[in-house]
Amino acid sequence: MTEQVTVVDHPLVQHKLTLLRRKEASTSEFRKLLREIGLFLGYEALRDLPLGKIQIETPVCPTEAPVLAGKKLTFISVLRAGDGLLGPMLDLVPSARVGQIGLARDEETLQPTKYFFKVPKDTSSRVNVVLDPMLATGHSAVRAVQEMKDIGAKDIRFVCLLAAPEGIKTFVEAHPDVPVITASIDERLDENAYIVPGLGDAGDRLFGTKGA
Ligand code: URA
Repeated sequence: MTEQVTVVDHPLVQHKLTLLRRKEASTSEFRKLLREIGLFLGYEALRDLPLGKIQIETPVCPTEAPVLAGKKLTFISVLRAGDGLLGPMLDLVPSARVGQIGLARDEETLQPTKYFFKVPKDTSSRVNVVLDPMLATGHSAVRAVQEMKDIGAKDIRFVCLLAAPEGIKTFVEAHPDVPVITASIDERLDENAYIVPGLGDAGDRLFGTKGA
């Protein structure tokens, strides 16, 4: 696999992912596990943030200690399942700005069309982390990242929970400059573009909307 893609293979992540995939997992279990895994994915996605030093005093002595060097962040949720990764990312960086991109599939062209776009300004000076749990065909992820580039974003990372090989291929061809962080690369897509073995519809599982 290309260096552009990081699979977070930590045993805790893999264990939690197995629990979350099970069809018996309730909505609340699914939500909780996605949040927990999201913390690890965010940790990995942000591991190169620059550090500076500040002078502090511990109860023992004065010392110079590392702090984030002021790089501003924006987390962009691809609606609606991306919202499931927003909570853990904001736990990690509470001061980050938040954007949302709504994409729906055009049933004729099968390509994503944009129905909502609200993203904070100053994208060019920020670290922009695009969030979507499922990198399936890759079309939505490619489009969401392109939308960010079109408004000037330069430093972009893409975080997903699961990826299909087909989606990875499409994504890295379209955006070779955008790192992908995921918990798993699954086997394949099925004829309905669901990830196999996957977890089903991420939005339905997160919000409890199956059959709605
Ligand atoms: N979106 C989902 O929610 N699940 C899949 O398996 C593929 C796309």
